[in-house]
Amino acid sequence: MELHRPAHRPERFSVAPMTTPDVGAVSRIERACFTTVWPNDAFYNELSTNKLAHYYVGRVDDRIVAYGGIWVILEDSHITTLAVDPDYRGRRFGEVLLMRLIDEAIDRGAGWMTLEVRESNTVAQRLYRKYGFTTVTMRAGYYSDDNESALIMWAGSLKSDLYRNRLGVLRASLGD
Ligand SMILES: CC(C)(COP(=O)(O)OP(=O)(O)OC[C@H]1O[C@@H](n2cnc3c(N)ncnc32)[C@H](O)[C@@H]1OP(=O)(O)O)[C@@H](O)C(=O)NCCC(=O)NCCS
Repeated sequence: MELHRPAHRPERFSVAPMTTPDVGAVSRIERACFTTVWPNDAFYNELSTNKLAHYYVGRVDDRIVAYGGIWVILEDSHITTLAVDPDYRGRRFGEVLLMRLIDEAIDRGAGWMTLEVRESNTVAQRLYRKYGFTTVTMRAGYYSDDNESALIMWAGSLKSDLYRNRLGVLRASLGD
């Protein structure tokens, strides 16, 4: 008789660079997450021609359930997108992916990171604040589909001991 056997195998979330065959799955998540979506071409262009761009996908087993990307321009980095499949939210996948983007930016020498987020998107704002982002300014009517305003958030200095310590604590809390 086997005791204490888990009823389900624990979910294994893995993160890897996005490649062109991933774009179909990424676009499906994009359409489920955003009202204004990037066309597939935008992802292909980012992957094939934009040398400043770095994109990642998160998988549970073989299924792509999350993605995100940054641009790194010398000292500055910019989160261009971050999304988790609605069926897979609340499991720290967004956080793991954000951590990967921040690590990538630091590895490439960036000291600062910025992003835009909808004023109403308090879930994403809370995630970003957890990682040291603060609202620096606001762009009124930034989103063309409904004229919603964007908060412009920044985090830095990514290279400071203070930020590295913060990241270390957050990394430890995520475990494996
Ligand atoms: C924002 C998003 C990526 C978060 O992904 P997720 O995997 O569900 O989030 P996680 O489980 O990693 O949660 C990490 C943190 O996000 C915040 N968060 C996540 N879900 C939340 C909720 N339902 N309510 C409030 N805060 C929440 C919390 O700060 C949480 O950490 P905490 O629980 O320790 O406070 C996801 O909601 C998403 O894809 N949203 C739609 C796309 C989007 O808005 N992208 C950002 C564009 S700027």
